This record gives sequence, structure tokens and C-alpha cells, in this order.
Amino acid sequence: MVVQTAESKKTIKLVITRQDGPDSQSYTEEFEIPYRPNMNVIGALMEIQRNPTNANGGKTAPVCWESNCLEEVCGACSMVINGKPRQACTAIIDKLEQPIRLAPMKTFPVVRDLAIDRGRMFNALKRVKAWIPIDGTYDLGPGPRMAETKRQWAYELSKCMTCGVCLEACPNVNDRSSFIGPAPVSQVRLFNAHPTGEMHAEERLDALMQDGGIEGCGNSQNCVQSCPKGIPLTTSIAALNNDTTKQLFKKWFAQ
Ligand code: SF4
Ligand code: FES
Repeated sequence: MVVQTAESKKTIKLVITRQDGPDSQSYTEEFEIPYRPNMNVIGALMEIQRNPTNANGGKTAPVCWESNCLEEVCGACSMVINGKPRQACTAIIDKLEQPIRLAPMKTFPVVRDLAIDRGRMFNALKRVKAWIPIDGTYDLGPGPRMAETKRQWAYELSKCMTCGVCLEACPNVNDRSSFIGPAPVSQVRLFNAHPTGEMHAEERLDALMQDGGIEGCGNSQNCVQSCPKGIPLTTSIAALNNDTTKQLFKKWFAQ
């Protein structure tokens, strides 16, 4: 099959899965926009926003999407691009096969078109207390120091941008399961490793041992392959399987 690149066509063809509202039926709409070198998918969506005309020449509503940082840091622009969940801001048009197919990530409720509600991830972070509890009423001074080797792997975990790609890739995160998904589990490992955060390690492990917690992982390993930040999600899940098992035995023997 001959792959038509944007360079050879001088236009960009897109097939976008659209949805007018949370409860509306989805449909696809095709667009053909002028080619410019070095465009990313956000640039193509901005072009459609500037001139909302579909490939048949009909006027249409501008396509809705979400983005903020435009440098793969905020996680807001995640969508399914040519079948793969990823960030639209780092999806370069010249590297994509056309027509470029854009769809919302199906693990999350659609707000409109490509904009989704990632609330289930933020609720999961609240549930596992993924923060360091300081009340901010006075200056606590510098926190306890971390060993350099520990700081290095903790830094890797801290790169999570709550983009939702690992939840989209995980077969066990769906509307038939309450599994919170790999990212919140990995954040428990991060905050339990922190010298101040570890004071609440037991509470976080308890949260992971409840319905929808770590037992929901089916070890498909899709998450670790899909994470754009290269976070070692399966290593985190294995470490927390260990920690929750130890906590379970500790509680039994304490009875
Ligand atoms: S762990 Fe990776 S894929 Fe999952 S939400 Fe965080 S950055 Fe995105
Ligand atoms: S806009 Fe922030 S990750 Fe794409």
C-alpha cells in the first residue's frame, strides 16, 4: 500500500469522531485542510476552528478539544490518534499516516467531540490520598532529605501528568470494573516513598486494598508500554502488591 504523506498531498485529511454532548450519538466528520510544514494535531484542530468547513464544503460546528501546555506536560490533550492513545500536542502531522483519525479516549465520558472528563483519575488520586499533608499555616522549613538513589526513581514517578493514556490502554479499566487504574497506584508508591508522605503510608495502602484497588490489575502490562513519560508502572504495581500483602499480614497478627 502506498502511504500518502502530508508532504505529497499538500493538504491534510482528517476523520474526526464527533459527539455534540455527553448523551448524544457519536458520528464521524471528514475535513481537508491546507498543509503547513511542522504542524501538530493541535495546529490542525486550530485550523478547523478558524474555518469550520468539512471536506464536502459544508459549514459545521468547530471541533472541540482540550489542551494547555502544548509540550506534553499537562496531559489535557490526550486523544486516540490513528488508533493509539497519545497527546495531540506532540503528534506531528508529517509523521502520521493519512487520513488522520482522531477520536476521544473511550475510557472517559465525552464532554464534546474530543474533549473528555478525566474526573475519574482525579477522584482516584483523592481516594488514595496522593499528596503530602502539610497545612500551609506556617513555614515548616526544608523537609527531610531523600537519599539520591531514591530521589532519582521517585522523580521518574513524579513525571505522571494524569493524561489517562495508561487507563485507556488497560483492559481492566472500563465501565464494568471499578479498578482505579495504574497511574493512581503508581502515585501511592511515590508518596509512600517520601520521608513526610510515608507517615500516611498505611492509609494509602488501605485505600488500595479496597474495592477498585490493586486487585483490579490483571497484569496485561499494556500500561507500561503506553505511558508517554516512560513511568515504570508495572514495577510500581509489583512493589505495592508486596506492600499491601505485608500490611494485610500485619493487621491479621495485630488482631
Ligand atoms: S502513568 Fe503515564 S500514561 Fe498514566 S496517566 Fe501518568 S503519564 Fe499518563
Ligand atoms: S497540551 Fe499539555 S500535554 Fe498536550
